Amino acid sequence: MCGIVGYIGSQNAVPILMEGLFRLEYRGYDSAGIAIISPAETRVFRRVGRVRELEASLPRRLTGKVGIGHTRWATHGPVTQANAHPQVSGDGRISVVHNGIIDNATELREGLQAKGETFGSETDTEVLAHLIARSAAPSLEDAVLDALAQIHGTYAIAIIDQRHPDRIVVARNGSPLIIGVGDREMFIASDLSALVRHTTSVVHLDDGELATVTATGFRTFSREEENTAKTPVSIDLDADDVDLAGHQHFMRKEILEQPASAERMLQGRLDERFGTARLDGLNLSPRDLRSFRRVKILGCGSAYYVGQIGAQLIEELARMPADAEPASEFRYRNPVIEPDTLYVAVSQSGETADTAFAVREVKRKGGQVVGLVNVVGSSIARECDGGIYLHAGPEIAVASTKALTHMAIGFAMLALVLGRVRDLSISDGQRIVAGLKALPGQIEQILADEPQIAEIAADLSAAESLFFIGRVRGFPVAREGAQKFKEVTYRHAEAYQASELKHGPLALIDKDLPTVAIVPDDELTDRNMGAIEQISARNGRVVLIANPGVPDCAADSRITVPKSARELDPILLVIPVQLMAYHAARTLGLDIDKPRNLAKSVTVE
Ligand code: G6P
Repeated sequence: MCGIVGYIGSQNAVPILMEGLFRLEYRGYDSAGIAIISPAETRVFRRVGRVRELEASLPRRLTGKVGIGHTRWATHGPVTQANAHPQVSGDGRISVVHNGIIDNATELREGLQAKGETFGSETDTEVLAHLIARSAAPSLEDAVLDALAQIHGTYAIAIIDQRHPDRIVVARNGSPLIIGVGDREMFIASDLSALVRHTTSVVHLDDGELATVTATGFRTFSREEENTAKTPVSIDLDADDVDLAGHQHFMRKEILEQPASAERMLQGRLDERFGTARLDGLNLSPRDLRSFRRVKILGCGSAYYVGQIGAQLIEELARMPADAEPASEFRYRNPVIEPDTLYVAVSQSGETADTAFAVREVKRKGGQVVGLVNVVGSSIARECDGGIYLHAGPEIAVASTKALTHMAIGFAMLALVLGRVRDLSISDGQRIVAGLKALPGQIEQILADEPQIAEIAADLSAAESLFFIGRVRGFPVAREGAQKFKEVTYRHAEAYQASELKHGPLALIDKDLPTVAIVPDDELTDRNMGAIEQISARNGRVVLIANPGVPDCAADSRITVPKSARELDPILLVIPVQLMAYHAARTLGLDIDKPRNLAKSVTVE
């Protein structure tokens, strides 16, 4: 979803901005643009469509030492060239790129029109450009403060001014913005991946903060014009992490990274002797951990499905009531916040607006919330009282894979810690620790079956509609399987509890509707076999994803997944559904890393 880049320094800004925009493509967008201050004038270029189309439209000799760029995901106004960013003031002096939504834009626009301003777009952002240009304040910073005082909403903005070509002014409220510190050059981005080629020294702006960025430095300040002290931090990110590195798609690259990334996540966090995990980032003492009576997990999309895996792990290992709910629903239903509930926000990006809002709602009502977040320094990570960083590394493909596996592992460690301060015995704790330690090698084994999974996926890609079924531990895996399949293949895929089939959906089963059945080897295996028999008796095709001990039963094909500790089985069962979705989409020749209509992190409502 919308991305921002900016550059000021001694190099030509154009290729740097374009490279940044290419890096932001994965977030999902529908148009793109840049504004460059060349000595005599500010030049603005915008295009509907891909960044490469914008690049092709630029004049050959375009140069400038300061500029801003944007990838837009339409919110106010349709996808048109006029609505793409940067948006400019009537006199062309001020250019603005903006992520977020200005809630009172219509009212402000009407006021400005009454004063004679004319608008070239339907965007809320253009209002901001006009307000800044109309301010009588002597400095760009004061003009921006004047404008911000009039707007309500969320934003990350970057502004350039023809009259002050030595600076970019940026501001943040509810949408991320990062300053990258270089040697006599500075960068701006809404996302680390756009900076990583140039610098690993960054400053995260806080909500309500602004900054003046010049070629040689930056100054951060509050809306009350008080300087804020900010020291750059070093980020642990490699340019290779955000490159395809020889792979055709990021989705497959990220699936294959899982053995190594899972190993990295577990490193130093497992305590074999006491059969527990070390999660210092939670900032909770054993006494605090004991004081909670229930756990509520909040996330969106796939993060919510993994949250269901997490809730089961917590119930099983800690014997505490736990459930997961879509943060997008929770935030709107005036939830009762209980003092003895531990709230857990789960998010790869740490920027999903619905999840961030749910966190704020919990905190506003005095609840305690920890985060399971991948992006270090992201909004949700910073707003939570503590948390577990997922350390999955950057995830570029829109469809999440490795981050989800890391979320599930994070939940297993949280469940272990909550369990060990309650009734989980040391030997059971050690059994789980041993299970966790074995995961990277077992994921490797599953990935070795890729050719066979690809064959099954190619076959499934021909079906218009599919069922994914599972029971108890298998059900969240089935939900995630259906989600992944829908996201990248555009096929209709629906998840059902295997136990619910007979209560309705069985009516749909015939030879054209295949079922993927998730069957761990546990106390429910026989029941699952019964469901498969029923499907098969109605000529339904069944792909079985199961542990070695599970019989083939009436399945037409089978993917075997190594056995883990029974509580951890879902973590491994989810790996084949990732590969299955990927290879089905590949067979269909789709844009796997950037599925239509989807964005990597949904930062607007
Ligand atoms: C979007 C993506 C989903 C993702 C969800 C949550 O809807 O399309 O794939 O699961 O956001 O993202 P998060 O970054 O919060 O995990």
